[in-house]
Amino acid sequence: MAKNRVICTQNNVDYLSIRMAMASGARTVDELVKSVGVCSECEGCKSELNAILSSVCGCKEVSLEAVVNAVKNGADTVEKVGEITGAGTGVDKETGEECGKCKVLIQNIIDLGR
Ligand code: FES
Repeated sequence: MAKNRVICTQNNVDYLSIRMAMASGARTVDELVKSVGVCSECEGCKSELNAILSSVCGCKEVSLEAVVNAVKNGADTVEKVGEITGAGTGVDKETGEECGKCKVLIQNIIDLGR
């Protein structure tokens, strides 16, 4: 799991703020501009936003596309998405405990269907 760090150096927007915006429905750079105020033009935005937006579960390296496809194919709970894609089933490498940090985002993808 990625530690928190500033992504948008222009407007001082950090990784966790971007992930929280995604969990509230942001899926595009334009939506992140509106929701958390990333500039979309600094080096951090240009080099990292698309990769952050395309990833759901860092522990299991599961993409947004894979989760959306699972939902479109009938996975209607976080657990079902996890069974199909592995998303949400990671273990924290330091503590050995279940991670699950991406489950809120998975639920939002289920709710929005995208
Ligand atoms: S990010 Fe850790 S389980 Fe998905």
